[in-house]
Amino acid sequence: MLKVNSLVKSFGGLLATDNLSFEVEEGEIHAFIGPNGAGKTTLISQITGEIKPDSGTIEFDGKDISRIPVHLRSAYGLARSFQITNIFHDMSTWDNVALSVQAQSGHSFHFWKDARKDSILREPALVFLEQVGLEERADILAGQLSHGEHRQLEIAMALATRPKMLLLDEPMAGMGLEESKAMIEILQGLKRKLTILLIEHDMDVVFKLADKITVLVYGRGIATDAPEAIRNNPEVQAAYLGEGVVSA
Ligand SMILES: Nc1ncnc2c1ncn2[C@@H]1O[C@H](COP(=O)(O)OP(=O)(O)O)[C@@H](O)[C@H]1O
Ligand SMILES: [Mg+2]
Repeated sequence: MLKVNSLVKSFGGLLATDNLSFEVEEGEIHAFIGPNGAGKTTLISQITGEIKPDSGTIEFDGKDISRIPVHLRSAYGLARSFQITNIFHDMSTWDNVALSVQAQSGHSFHFWKDARKDSILREPALVFLEQVGLEERADILAGQLSHGEHRQLEIAMALATRPKMLLLDEPMAGMGLEESKAMIEILQGLKRKLTILLIEHDMDVVFKLADKITVLVYGRGIATDAPEAIRNNPEVQAAYLGEGVVSA
């Protein structure tokens, strides 16, 4: 689904992405872990097109997307959640998702109508709300949702664009235990339905969800493997020594 080849990005003298190559298979959850500043967010931004790589290529679903703008990548089926979605706080949860459904349906279709009153948009929107466990909060103003529910809503809005691949940058950040649990369940529910690239600090979450893990250190991919192999990889253990993050 995604093939990154010899990707390089520097900021001044700092190599944020250092000749990085990897592949993400269709339907898998591929997690990226690594210390703060390892280049995880910069990687996602290059995949979505918000940051231009210095060199290297990115193929998505068989197409070279390395040099095409953000909106085309999203039209091809790439969706990023967090830091990009605009939630309208004075509209209901349901209406926010209906707007995303409308945005996805394009100009040929109902664009002149009010998304909030259009059942052709509202019915699919409810399905996406159910996928993230927000159906009972559908009529609440989005501004009144909790932090965790906002994150859930952002995923519903990303799903409404019907992506082939979802890019998630620390979806549990700032969440309490219950909210994190709900998010893990949502991601488990999405597993295999679409391809997911997941950046996450919590190693329990990563080892529970991921099919494949890539470890980034100073922009360099030091290993890509199944979770157990990553746990037992001496180079990975050395990179994390003292942090205790990959201990069982
Ligand atoms: N826009 C930018 N300009 C300059 N340096 C940046 C920029 N974005 C990120 N960096 C630097 O690139 C490195 C990787 O950052 P980032 O991708 O945010 O890491 P991570 O998400 O793994 O914590 C860091 O050293 C960060 O300071
Ligand atoms: Mg980051």
